[in-house]
Amino acid sequence: MQRFETYLSENLPKAPSFHPVYEDALGVMLLAGGKRFRPLLLLSIVDAYQPLLYEGALPVALSLEMFHTYSLIHDDLPAMDNADLRRGHTTLHKRYDEVTAILVGDALNTDAFLRIAQAPFREDVKIQLITLLAINGGSAGMVLGQSIDCYFENKPLTLAQVKTLHQNKTAKLIATSLQMGAVIVGLDTPTQKALYDFGIDLGLLFQIQDDIIDETQSEEEAGKPTGNDGDKNSFVNLLGLEQTVIEADTLAKDLQRRFEDFDKKLQMALDPLMNRYLNRHN
Ligand code: IPE
Ligand code: IPE
Ligand code: MG
Ligand code: MG
Ligand code: MG
Repeated sequence: MQRFETYLSENLPKAPSFHPVYEDALGVMLLAGGKRFRPLLLLSIVDAYQPLLYEGALPVALSLEMFHTYSLIHDDLPAMDNADLRRGHTTLHKRYDEVTAILVGDALNTDAFLRIAQAPFREDVKIQLITLLAINGGSAGMVLGQSIDCYFENKPLTLAQVKTLHQNKTAKLIATSLQMGAVIVGLDTPTQKALYDFGIDLGLLFQIQDDIIDETQSEEEAGKPTGNDGDKNSFVNLLGLEQTVIEADTLAKDLQRRFEDFDKKLQMALDPLMNRYLNRHN
């Protein structure tokens, strides 16, 4: 974690110009913290199988965090969730203005792909990584999820549709973080698929827990506004808090079983990251 934080702080986007705030604005939300769940998933896999590739994987891990941070900056915009706080800090459109927040999001999105292109891996590996991030983050992935999320505010969806929404807006990026780690270390296609499928359900659990956080935590605890999902097709709005918690517990148990089928090396590497999600009541 520390190594990633150091790498991130030393490798923020650089865009010197006579613009008074733009370059600072590019780094503010990256530096604001966050759990770094996606980059750490990728790095844990690399560490488990090919620790010598860890250094080279850092720009790829950073690309995931840049892409995710872009999605958060846009998620908070007035036209989307209209949130004033993110990672315990004032959101970019409040700190600067909406134009800056939109453009910083655009820049982080584009630059994420540049970071992969510049990583010290074989070109065919980098094309696979870029393709995975694009497929899972783009028009048929995270953006589709966000689009459904916002379009269907105050229009109730079915449980199956909400699962599809959560899988797209959140789970695909989490799943691809695991698969991208597997691609870097050269795990075979069936293992990549098993990790991706596990990641989809892990990501669904992650978003269900995020919906629970909106209902149960204070703004200080969450570092973002809570009680903000009133118009959303959140799990809590659909099922109620009690049933949502039961759903999360059931999914966590199923994931725990599947996790134990992974090879021991992988289990050990991922364990610290999984613990918080799979052992929900510890
Ligand atoms: C928040 O993501 C948005 C969701 C997809 C639920 P995280 O909970 O990973 O936010 P940070 O990165 O820790 O701030
Ligand atoms: C956002 O979901 C998922 C993204 C793709 C950014 P939410 O809108 O629930 O995330 P928070 O609660 O604002 O972090
Ligand atoms: Mg949202
Ligand atoms: Mg939001
Ligand atoms: Mg939320």
